[in-house]
Amino acid sequence: MNARAKLITTAILSAGAACLLTIAVSHRRLAILEPAIGTAPAFAQDAPAHAVPAAKRGGVVVELCDGVTSVEVAGTKPGQPLSHAQALAVTGKLMAEWQRKHPGEKWVMAQASEAPAASVAGAANIGGPNAQGGAKLKSQQGDTYASFHERDYKIWKAETDAFVAQGNKIFHSAKLLGGTIGVSCDMCHPNAANTHPETYPKYQEQLQRVALLRDMIDWCIENPVKGKTLDPNDPKLRALEAYILAQRKGVALDYGKH
Ligand code: HEC
Repeated sequence: MNARAKLITTAILSAGAACLLTIAVSHRRLAILEPAIGTAPAFAQDAPAHAVPAAKRGGVVVELCDGVTSVEVAGTKPGQPLSHAQALAVTGKLMAEWQRKHPGEKWVMAQASEAPAASVAGAANIGGPNAQGGAKLKSQQGDTYASFHERDYKIWKAETDAFVAQGNKIFHSAKLLGGTIGVSCDMCHPNAANTHPETYPKYQEQLQRVALLRDMIDWCIENPVKGKTLDPNDPKLRALEAYILAQRKGVALDYGKH
């Protein structure tokens, strides 16, 4: 036993019964806490497995983000992409069905027939870190705020705008979303309307847990876009999240709101 340990032992022994009682009580407290931590809900668990209803006529069954409403597209085989017109017809049908079930819900609906031109040229023009071609000028990092200049702020803004523009493109493209049936988010969420990013985190019944916006995006990529969920760090998921949030600039955060 070294000198330090001896000193601590002597101190404990000399503290007497009162001290021992305190230690006993604090141990009990720990024992109470431990099982509570052990059985705490895992907030990062995988989403529950979800089966889309079986096809009755051999067609493709497309399910809505609500995890309940679905339609079967007759005359198509699973894995066969739909034409743009067919995809619009399916999403229109799904939304009509959803609105019939939720007559009181306000839903902005104006289907886009063409993806808007999303520009990522801003960053390139200024020469930010993501500039394509030309000189790549670095914005400063790790310095005092006082030394940032107008140019730095311009680069940051251009970078952010380019990131959002990428998300815009993905949101409007079944292909970039990795969708298999030609359905893209904008068909039901024009300009990301009705996505309510300001209400996250909140409990989502279809996910059986408290969801973040990205969880819900992933869920919608699976149903109704029929693509594969993206890793939380996937650049596409990050860009989609950036775009959806950017569309709600100025709206007050109101997490947990349904
Ligand atoms: C066929 C129409 C349709 C398509 C396509 C679609 N959604 Fe949805 N989405 C809905 C409906 C309807 C709801 C509401 C579901 C509910 O209330 O349970 C919804 C809900 C959401 C929500 C939650 C909104 C809230 O109030 O919390 C998000 C976020 C969302 N969708 C994002 C997406 C994204 C991202 C895509 C593309 C990957 C997508 N959606 C594709 C119809 C669609």
